[in-house]
Amino acid sequence: PYVLTEKSFFLYQEVAYPLEERGLQFGDGVYEVVRIYHGKYFLLQEHIDRLYRSAEAIRLAVPFEKEDLIEKLEQLRKMNDVKEDAIVYLQVTRGSFPRAHAFPAENRPNLFAYIREMPRKLQEAENGVRAILTRDVRWEYCYIKSLNLLANVLAKQEAAERGAFEAIFYRDGKITEGSSSNIFLVQGGKVYTHPATERILNGITRMKVKQFCDLLHIPFIEEAFATEDIAKADEMFLTSTTASIIPIIQVEEQLIAGGKPGEVTRKLQAAYEEAAG
Ligand code: PDD
Repeated sequence: PYVLTEKSFFLYQEVAYPLEERGLQFGDGVYEVVRIYHGKYFLLQEHIDRLYRSAEAIRLAVPFEKEDLIEKLEQLRKMNDVKEDAIVYLQVTRGSFPRAHAFPAENRPNLFAYIREMPRKLQEAENGVRAILTRDVRWEYCYIKSLNLLANVLAKQEAAERGAFEAIFYRDGKITEGSSSNIFLVQGGKVYTHPATERILNGITRMKVKQFCDLLHIPFIEEAFATEDIAKADEMFLTSTTASIIPIIQVEEQLIAGGKPGEVTRKLQAAYEEAAG
């Protein structure tokens, strides 16, 4: 398979970085995961826009113009002859320099993007998944899609060890988001989710759900809900690029809507399927 870098296209095995790479040593970089359905990018422009926003937030210059990067990603897709469901992983770091915390004097970022096959999570989307709750110990810059994912990794591992699909973060008694997803609660026909503050990553799928709600005349309320509200939820679901929209049917020991995916969730899933094609 081919990989795109800031210099050129290379074979996957050919790309190597020095040990002193700021992404490796400091997590000093940002990334994106973009969906590919039937060999075509889904919401690529939105992801690229967010990548540049994340980069700007950490004062990092992406080594391409946006249009140029999009064109290169289209080229990458063609070179890899992608026809199925896949993802492209794209990362930009502050580059390879002798280890020192402060920014290097020179602006020489590293960028790479590669495509990996990834089937849709059909089983989970159909039956729903279980989730656990875990304390949100992350920093206040969660709106940046940064490479610093240790808290997310530890949370997801806790979920995996307890047989759950996702770990839901709470902070000050309120649900923020999942370890790699946004979290929604449906109550009385309204959809509630944490507002897009610095405490969450404003998911591209989350923003799409907001659009679907507008189109379907479902009130979309960006208000954080409390952990106690889960017991009263009619429905819950999560969203992410890799997962799309997945019903949550149990949180810790609490069954949601008797352990079955709900009506509003189903409507939003249908809207998503239509958009994704
Ligand atoms: N994760 N919140 C966090 C912390 C995430 O890592 C993600 C996505 C989301 C959902 O965002 P989006 O809808 O734009 O994918 C929310 C990606 C998929 C990942 O790290 O693999």
